[in-house]
Amino acid sequence: MNKQAKPRLLSGDTSTGRLHLGHYVGSIENRVKMQDEYDCYFLIANIQAMTTRMDRPAEVHENVMEVMLDYLAAGIDPKKSTIFVQSEIPAIAELTVFFSLLVPYPRLMRNPTIKDEIRDKGLGENYSVGFLLYPISQAADILSVRAEVVPVGEDQAPHLELTREVARRFNQAYCGVDSHAEDTQQIALGGLFPVPEIKLGRTRRLVGIGAPDAEGNLQKMSKSLNNAIFLSDDPDTVKKKVMAMYTDPNRLKATDKGTVENNPLWVFHDTFNPDKVWVEEAKERYRVGTIGDVECKRRLIEVLTAVIEPMRLRRLEYAKDLHQLKNILQEGTAKANAAANTTLLLAKEAMRQRYF
Ligand code: TRP
Repeated sequence: MNKQAKPRLLSGDTSTGRLHLGHYVGSIENRVKMQDEYDCYFLIANIQAMTTRMDRPAEVHENVMEVMLDYLAAGIDPKKSTIFVQSEIPAIAELTVFFSLLVPYPRLMRNPTIKDEIRDKGLGENYSVGFLLYPISQAADILSVRAEVVPVGEDQAPHLELTREVARRFNQAYCGVDSHAEDTQQIALGGLFPVPEIKLGRTRRLVGIGAPDAEGNLQKMSKSLNNAIFLSDDPDTVKKKVMAMYTDPNRLKATDKGTVENNPLWVFHDTFNPDKVWVEEAKERYRVGTIGDVECKRRLIEVLTAVIEPMRLRRLEYAKDLHQLKNILQEGTAKANAAANTTLLLAKEAMRQRYF
């Protein structure tokens, strides 16, 4: 199929560390599946990473390569898809400035993901102007290639909603699209930007391997909460993490009745174990106290290792050739720049701000 004829897809990750199973079920798995149908752009958001890590530039740099290795390990194919780095795309920065004019300031402060981040990362009153700007920059990431679909986890939904608003507002303000136009009609009616759709993963929000928070809710898997299983973890690490995984604290021995609900052990089996019959039977036995944690954990270790180990091995292969890695990133970035520059020019024309 002609690549140009395919609709575009964009997604990305901040270069803040290696990717884990939460990223995998939230988004990466979908991206790998959608590579043939869509013209895919995968962005490594190093500027967004720096919004909370201005003091750690070397770490952000190093993690660009780590994220890229995770992409390749998970099955993103550089022959099909474009992998690129955010800060090398000047058009994204320019679009961010123009888009910031379309977003009321109080609208930014209502974003629940931003509020969570300020709380979870302990930013207090010390977040920068650039930090607050990152959802707009994310809209620019997506709209710079005029993507129609964005596979991401549920935590990204508020950013996607903002992106959709920016696309509509731009089309109304500068392309003469009627304010009542349907989202799907924006391009047909002369708009520059499609209103991109979110594609959520099969698991909305994967829990971590740790205990619940003070309110009794299981926390999401997150590197900063130190409760993650990484796509690059070796079998021994996976084993240790599963063995130490939080389960039902009231169950002291295998003959005690156990609770399946809100128990990470069963969340993970439900998410990753292809043997649904075993999972349902084992849950029943867990409830009545005829199966031990250890047996269920052993099974989970096998299941997770089968998911992770092929990725880890592919990662090791790619990591051998740094020259090739750099080439993949450089070629991807050149392609993304071409697409984003075209968009920027069209946006400036629409805004009557093209002078030469
Ligand atoms: N905010 C995303 C995250 O934290 C990363 C990201 C940056 C992104 N730009 C994007 C995701 C554009 C999708 C589309 O995971």
